[in-house]
Amino acid sequence: MRVRRIKVRASSGAYEVVCAAGAVSRLDDEIARLGKFTSVHVVTSPKVWRAVGKAVLRGLARHKPSEVHLFDDREAKKEMRSVEQIARLLARAKADRRSLILAVGGGVVGDVVGYAAASYLRGVALVQIPTTLVSQTDSSVGGKTGVNLPEGKNLVGAFYPARLVVVDPQLLKTLSKREFRGGLAEVIKYGIIADAKLFEYLEENFERALRRDEKVLEYLICRSIEIKAWVVSKDERESGLREILNYGHTFGHALESETRYRRFQHGEAVAWGMKCAALLGHKIGLTRASDVSRIVALIERLGPLPDWSRVSDASLIEAMKSDKKTVGNKLRFVLSKKIGKAATYENVPLDAVKHALHFAPRLHALTEIVSG
Ligand SMILES: NC(=O)c1ccc[n+]([C@@H]2O[C@H](COP(=O)([O-])OP(=O)(O)OC[C@H]3O[C@@H](n4cnc5c(N)ncnc54)[C@H](O)[C@@H]3O)[C@@H](O)[C@H]2O)c1
Ligand SMILES: [Zn+2]
Repeated sequence: MRVRRIKVRASSGAYEVVCAAGAVSRLDDEIARLGKFTSVHVVTSPKVWRAVGKAVLRGLARHKPSEVHLFDDREAKKEMRSVEQIARLLARAKADRRSLILAVGGGVVGDVVGYAAASYLRGVALVQIPTTLVSQTDSSVGGKTGVNLPEGKNLVGAFYPARLVVVDPQLLKTLSKREFRGGLAEVIKYGIIADAKLFEYLEENFERALRRDEKVLEYLICRSIEIKAWVVSKDERESGLREILNYGHTFGHALESETRYRRFQHGEAVAWGMKCAALLGHKIGLTRASDVSRIVALIERLGPLPDWSRVSDASLIEAMKSDKKTVGNKLRFVLSKKIGKAATYENVPLDAVKHALHFAPRLHALTEIVSG
């Protein structure tokens, strides 16, 4: 097995992301490198545990969990009550300061269990074992944990990096097609913002990626982690560079919130958002037309996205203004000068934003008209 070890620097100390097909079979050895623990507690959801429990347990022969704690990992349960539920499960199982928590699941599990681990006894050791494409390439790296409030998403949380992240692309076999495709949209994002070679690789191997070819997945996931690790190591607290990870997300978040998080899977909204960002970049004279067409063409290969008819441009603009990442009343966007590079641009004219919103949903039709 070829194991990639990717180092992430954090203010609380460095940690490693271990990435390889079959990596969970090495859990015992990897955990042993962290030191000794009084007990091991898996925290996961019933659905995730059904899918990956056997494989994970096989890797834990020498670190048999004293308990496997289950909680509901629907986004609606990403709330304070779940943190309390997990903390109480840990207390009843007598987890102490030297216990180890293994968070096994997607981004919801990682965020909620990470926050519970940050606060239980003021912090117990955490290992993340992400099981979705999004959590493997994004949420398990960088230390952001937390929960939603009725007032908004991710409003309560803490920076609490794992001591170790173990990424095994083989765990993705059971992931639904929709979740997988949403994750792939975020991989496209990494190509656009930081790595033209990754983007080219996607162009050449997209069908194999969609078929979840092991070799292709291993490359895409490890490369995405390297990019995320590079960004968060340079800017843990999002004072600058880390913002580029939000490419396509200002539009995407607006689409999600204006459709009450019901119509789009997050990655689908980001896919639309990236088309908007590419068009917007072109409109303000930043992104070349040839790059816009490559971005749009690659996103189209994900397959049809839910449409956004009946969502008004005005309401999307309002939502973008109230996005917690906007400063003042100015519209700020992460845009790409050319594939492989991105930065934040301030004071983007409203007319250009309206132009992007108008043409993005019609792009497909336009391409057909032009090519037909
Ligand atoms: N902390 C961060 O930096 C960060 C970054 C991005 C996203 N997030 C958060 O992550 C969450 C989204 O995470 P996600 O996209 O991983 O989705 P998710 O955690 O909601 O998981 C999606 C679905 O897949 C199921 N699932 C998970 N692994 C599976 C597997 N191997 N086989 C079959 N089913 C499986 C889950 O039970 C769930 O039903 C959001 O709450 C978002 O806010 C956090
Ligand atoms: Zn995202």
